[in-house]
Amino acid sequence: MIWPAVEVTGLRVRREVVSFVRRSNRMRPNQRRAWEAYRDLFVLDVPRLDTSTSIDPSASLDLVEAFGRDATLVVEIGPGTGESLVPMAEARPQANVLAFEVYQPAIARMLAQLAKTGLDNVRIVEADAVAAMRHLLPARSVDEIWLFFPDPWHKARHHKRRLLNPEFASLTASRMKSGAVWRIATDWADYADRIREVLDDDPSFVNVHHNGWGPRWAARPITHFEQRGLDAGRQIFDLAYRRVG
Ligand SMILES: C[S@@+](CC[C@H](N)C(=O)[O-])C[C@H]1O[C@@H](n2cnc3c(N)ncnc32)[C@H](O)[C@@H]1O
Repeated sequence: MIWPAVEVTGLRVRREVVSFVRRSNRMRPNQRRAWEAYRDLFVLDVPRLDTSTSIDPSASLDLVEAFGRDATLVVEIGPGTGESLVPMAEARPQANVLAFEVYQPAIARMLAQLAKTGLDNVRIVEADAVAAMRHLLPARSVDEIWLFFPDPWHKARHHKRRLLNPEFASLTASRMKSGAVWRIATDWADYADRIREVLDDDPSFVNVHHNGWGPRWAARPITHFEQRGLDAGRQIFDLAYRRVG
């Protein structure tokens, strides 16, 4: 059984269902080395509320200062070790790519890859994407969003943990520019159906592929998570929704 995270802050007890398991952030020696060597280059320091993945609601993010320039903004939610993010950011030197990821050892692996490629257009926030989206991103600031293979929480009793729900869709819509595209991929058919249902019901979005699944997005490299789905015989579903209005 998975319990919701319980935080005791002073006399207040807060229960919040999140889309990730709070895992140990213990790192292997090579991950620790990458973290120490490169975090200052890529990981943004943000004020916390209570947990290490929270964001203080009074926080703000100056995107121009964070990236050292004003450019098209792409946000990747849950990039893991950056198997998609690193090559895709490398292919888009003209874009600023901002990542929200909760798992520090995965970020450390991403840092090693970023350092190897010498990229300077990526910044990472170690935080719950819900909090980061809500507290850090200005309204109407994002040009493109990537969400690839979000944790499926495939058992019915865990569906409430799925990140993409109506509330997160409407929060995300509020941060997207008009015409911005949200690209999604998953290997879980019922999550894919649910995502379509949620985004089809939200008047802020239209399906780029006219009420259907998209073709596999060729720009997206095959990650371990996608390969694992393919090896298990699961179909991959690509979706793209445009922010309207
Ligand atoms: C199944 S993995 C997919 C990783 C990557 N997108 C890929 O395709 O290889 C899901 C990732 O999302 C992260 N994650 C889950 N919930 C999150 C949240 N609320 N905010 C930020 N990251 C989250 C997990 O830590 C994990 O790295």
